[in-house]
Amino acid sequence: MTALSELDETPTPQDAAWWRQAVVYQVYPRSFADSNGDGIGDLPGITGKVPYLRELGVDAVWLSPFYPSALADGGYDVDDYRDVDPRIGTLEQFDELRTALHRAGIRLIVDIVPNHTSNRHVWFREALASPPGSRARERYIFRRGRGEHGELPPSDWTSTFGGPAWEPVGDGEWYLHLFAPEQPDLNWADDEVHQEFLTTLKFWADRGVDGFRIDVAHALAKDLTEPLASQADLKADIWGGAHPLEDRDEVHDIYREWRQLFNQYDPPRTAVAEAWVPAHRRSRYASPDGLGQAFNFDLLEATWDATTFAAIIDKNLELARESGASSTWVLSNHDVVRHATRYALPEGTDLDAWLTSDGTDPLPDEDRGRRRARAATLLTLALPGSAYLYQGEELGLPEVADLPDDVLQDPTFLRSGGVQKGRDGCRVPLPWTTHGPTLGFGDQLAHLPVPTDFGRFAVEREEADDASTLSFYRQALAERRRLQSGETLDWLTPTHPTVVAFRRPGGWTSVTNFGSSPVPMPAGSLIMSSAPAEGREIPAETTVWILQDPEHAV
Ligand code: NOJ
Repeated sequence: MTALSELDETPTPQDAAWWRQAVVYQVYPRSFADSNGDGIGDLPGITGKVPYLRELGVDAVWLSPFYPSALADGGYDVDDYRDVDPRIGTLEQFDELRTALHRAGIRLIVDIVPNHTSNRHVWFREALASPPGSRARERYIFRRGRGEHGELPPSDWTSTFGGPAWEPVGDGEWYLHLFAPEQPDLNWADDEVHQEFLTTLKFWADRGVDGFRIDVAHALAKDLTEPLASQADLKADIWGGAHPLEDRDEVHDIYREWRQLFNQYDPPRTAVAEAWVPAHRRSRYASPDGLGQAFNFDLLEATWDATTFAAIIDKNLELARESGASSTWVLSNHDVVRHATRYALPEGTDLDAWLTSDGTDPLPDEDRGRRRARAATLLTLALPGSAYLYQGEELGLPEVADLPDDVLQDPTFLRSGGVQKGRDGCRVPLPWTTHGPTLGFGDQLAHLPVPTDFGRFAVEREEADDASTLSFYRQALAERRRLQSGETLDWLTPTHPTVVAFRRPGGWTSVTNFGSSPVPMPAGSLIMSSAPAEGREIPAETTVWILQDPEHAV
């Protein structure tokens, strides 16, 4: 792992493997810190918080999209890939942020959205202004509709956010959008699309960006030969390269092309795939001649259970060995219910239904959620590989499930006719201070309301409290930095079925008690614990790190 020394802004011999065991902190720019009081977080706001990020002890920051966008999907609808949204800043302010991060020893990863542009992108506007069969339409996926006048969609496919995946343009043709209608899918069979993204990647790499997070990496290559499959066929889990829209083998030709570009830099630029594919297909995205790393979302979906966690860890370490990449561990991000809340809900809770109940049915057990969340975090931070943290989890922020309908922005809410609430509850601005209309996020305004009880989680308050979640994260990241060395893990045979235990190179051990009663603490000296531990017992739902005598069983 990279030492927290100042990264020079001028090229020096650098550690090309910095990413392998990095702690990467995801910033959702609109909700992080607002420097100009317009209610939208911005780049100078993030720059102002670099000391906070340094103190937290992260190795890299991943910025979710900050590009010009109408925000039909929180910025994942990009108007221009090589600029900054004026509400968020300027390219000069981007450079200032990068410099500040690099000076603090923190790398910078940006989000690339190659499956679709926004409907305001110059290419799409040109496509709409051009006739069927024109060159401008070839960059997207246009098809003539069925029916005598093209009045029916080319197929019955549905989009991820609900409703049909085809939108008519009024001349008998329809375009494909796997997400919102404002996100037309690009045609990756077109060479100009390839060239355009190489230019974009080069633009940011030349600007000193250290790596890329690739949105919807599994869907770029598509087989649209007629007749188009039906939605029922798509649902039938046809993986292994046979699905017409997802995880096709040809998608890796694109990433091989990108890898050649990334490797022209010193150190090579990194990339991590957001690829929702079965675990056994993930290694292809993570291969060294491809993107190099892929998100493992298995823990996002896992129940709080020792056997489940152990199996997921084991499987993903095996996959990492297979690909040569390091694994990735994710407990929260901007698309899912925050993990402090997931773990506060009874097992098997349908999260969509729970959100629809405004978070009242069932009521979360906040103490339990926080306890389990800390234990899970400490466990994942002990694992070999990179840990991806999502802004606010270091404060123990819960999901805000009772946002009023009239402030919701997620297309999931709008496209489901209000049936599904969507993802806004994990995108609420961060509380920095205990008082003030937006709790220090900005001035009077916040694009999503900050609940007043978020003052309990304010950075200002947690910094002053040794027992806070923030203090816990700082300690955990500092200890990880000190302890983390090789990339191996030796499982220890637990004496109790609720325990997951492993040893890392250097003789430190992580032991998690998933059970609801204490278990004996193994011999050794306690490095840290996710909950106050007294005597020789690991409390319920707690992870401890210990320097252990190798002879002792757990
Ligand atoms: C995945 C992103 O994480 C999500 O926020 C977005 O809605 C979709 N991709 C579409 O770009």
